[in-house]
Amino acid sequence: MDLVQRRVLVSAGLLLALASNFAMPRHALAAEKLKVGLMLPYSGTFAALGTAIENGFRLHVTEQGGKLGGREVEFFKVDDESDPSKAADNVNKLIKRDQVDVLIGTVHSGVAMAIAKAAKDTGTLLIVPNAGADAVTGAMCAQNIFRSSFSNWQPGFAMGDVVAKKGHKKVVTITWKYAAGDESVKGFKEALEKGGGQVVKELSLPFPNVEFQALLTEIAALKPDAVYTFFAGAGAVKFVKDYVAAGLKKTIPLYGAGFLTDGTLDAIGPDAEGLLTTLHYADNLNKPRDKAFRLAYAKTFKLQPDVYAVQGYDAAQMLTLGLKATAGDVTKKAEFAAALEQVTIDSPRGPFTLSKAHNPVQDFYLREVTGKENKLIGVASKALADPSRGCKI
Ligand code: BEZ
Repeated sequence: MDLVQRRVLVSAGLLLALASNFAMPRHALAAEKLKVGLMLPYSGTFAALGTAIENGFRLHVTEQGGKLGGREVEFFKVDDESDPSKAADNVNKLIKRDQVDVLIGTVHSGVAMAIAKAAKDTGTLLIVPNAGADAVTGAMCAQNIFRSSFSNWQPGFAMGDVVAKKGHKKVVTITWKYAAGDESVKGFKEALEKGGGQVVKELSLPFPNVEFQALLTEIAALKPDAVYTFFAGAGAVKFVKDYVAAGLKKTIPLYGAGFLTDGTLDAIGPDAEGLLTTLHYADNLNKPRDKAFRLAYAKTFKLQPDVYAVQGYDAAQMLTLGLKATAGDVTKKAEFAAALEQVTIDSPRGPFTLSKAHNPVQDFYLREVTGKENKLIGVASKALADPSRGCKI
């Protein structure tokens, strides 16, 4: 056989393979494993958050007998290190090398933007199980992109309203200088100003820097009525401890987006006592759905769940719901999206729906740290939807 004949044969084989793939009958698809690509941080300041998301996701898969949409699940994992400069290469490993059916990622907003771009460019199904980058369900929104978590604006806005109602007039904000910090402060400021307060100074430091001392000295000199902060993971632990060590907690009340105290209380210890935060989860919701989830999670992982575990669990629940509508076929994007746009997701956090841009519309709770728990005080913002950001799907 000469070279030309061989090429013709190979091309014919490829065409046949492609054709059989497109016309894959239901039973053939069910026999194919569902390739799930987990792009999460397993090292660095957000490592614990990545693990909790994976745990939550796996818990739902186990509850479904190891299958989603009738297909056995196979995991592919990449440690994204919360490093935006490596994000494009990392996501390509999952899309091109591993040829995953669905991407689950990630924690860091900057990394999530790169994943969303790759998902949009290639049409790969993406569920974001944490990162709040407003643009993911704004300018970058797409039929195949969903979020099981929040937009950065949401918990910030909820806390701005709480702080304004407490009568604080002059507030200093402190955060990491990247999309999550900036957008959290923006949401906070919007609600605070609506309620008659004012942000007098916005302090920040680069992610994932934790040298807070100079900024804490500045806060002490400014003597604001209150401080609002967005920090998470190991950075949040260090920040709360440093705030207390600087003697500020006694004189200037500290408020935060709930990431400050979620998944961090064992490490912070008594320094966190009494802190008020807003988030779409709390440790004592006392609803049967949440109780069952917490029990199963604690039994399986010998750990208490946090908001990240819930978001991972719900990412898997969303995948199940979408696959149900498409008989396990991730390529049926319109049917998958239509199903998720209509359902109410039965989350441990409480039921939520998705906006047209595929971001959760959900309650934000006011919580107070009591011992090792973020105790529910009440609902700070009911069914809070992210503002419309010009998303066109
Ligand atoms: C973010 O980068 O979007 C983020 C990271 C940790 C907690 C919450 C948000």
